[in-house]
Amino acid sequence: MKAAAAAVQATAPGTPTVGYYNDKCNGSVEGIVRETVKAALNADLTKGAALVRLFFHDCFVRGCDGSVLLDPTYANPYPEKTSGANIGLRGFDVIDAIKANLESACPSTVSCADILAFAARDASGYLSKGGIDYAVPAGRLNGVVSSAADAERNLPGSTFDVATLISNFAAKGFTPEELVIVSGAHSIGRAHCSSFRDRLSSPSGEINPYFRDNILAKDCDAGPADPTVENNIRDQNATALGNLTSYVVPARGGASLDNSYYVNSLNSVVLFHSDWAIVGSNATRRHVHEYADNGTLWNLDFADALVKLAMPPGSTAEIRKTCRATNY
Ligand code: HEM
Repeated sequence: MKAAAAAVQATAPGTPTVGYYNDKCNGSVEGIVRETVKAALNADLTKGAALVRLFFHDCFVRGCDGSVLLDPTYANPYPEKTSGANIGLRGFDVIDAIKANLESACPSTVSCADILAFAARDASGYLSKGGIDYAVPAGRLNGVVSSAADAERNLPGSTFDVATLISNFAAKGFTPEELVIVSGAHSIGRAHCSSFRDRLSSPSGEINPYFRDNILAKDCDAGPADPTVENNIRDQNATALGNLTSYVVPARGGASLDNSYYVNSLNSVVLFHSDWAIVGSNATRRHVHEYADNGTLWNLDFADALVKLAMPPGSTAEIRKTCRATNY
């Protein structure tokens, strides 16, 4: 997929294909998405992480069908986005802006599931300073079903141990190595303290004690209930870091989506139990070392993993007029 074939590939009907929109909307679809994502990230860089996570959470539940975008209704008060597993999910405003721009250029042409897939690619490209780039297979339709219970059943939990993570990803066709690769997305974004509160009492063998007590515990005690903390120690306030500055991988060329997550993992300065857990197993540890040592390889393999994530077409019901509601 890295070769980014421009032509539509011959595949089975219903399978997303590269170049699907080339002959639609005057070939402007991917450009409209890219420009809208760029404007959104120029205004608020943190929206990039939000878009990458939205895409993952869409595709892991019922395939990539835009089901994560549906708002609660009288008939369906608990869609996916109301699930505890979707705590902190954001970036819906960016998807709305992309959809509005596409609807005005060519109504009822581009599905919200495809918008999510393009937006995640474009956000990854922006945040990696072009290091991550790939052709996105497209042509999905949107589902009309969205259930919080489905999200709870399918999405991985931050307190999972490595065996549970491996089987959660295996259920979607991902290898332990691919689990390691996609986890590198935690080099960006932020998390609520409730998502890693268990780590505040984890033993020193599982988390750097200075990081635990002087950074995470302090941040979580301060301010509002359940505040958010940066996923990557690199993005913490420099004065708070104390003796941890030696672990901080500088953002190369300002790119923030990079392999620094793996260096953090090896130094026990990652947020979630699940992040720490993948260092603790033979099936995954060697890949953590591999990607800590080779950022270029990680960029390429992350791109391939996102293409794989984008492949399940999910439901084939409709092209929504707005991403937050089904057409009828
Ligand atoms: C391996 C299993 C995974 C677990 C257990 C997990 C768990 C979490 C949790 C708990 C949060 C913080 C939510 C909050 O408290 O607000 C989070 C944030 C995030 N996750 Fe994951 N995640 C996993 C895999 C992934 C994958 C595969 C991706 C993308 C390819 C991803 C991308 C992100 C991003 C970008 C954020 C930050 C979002 C933001 O700033 O809005 N995660 N994840």
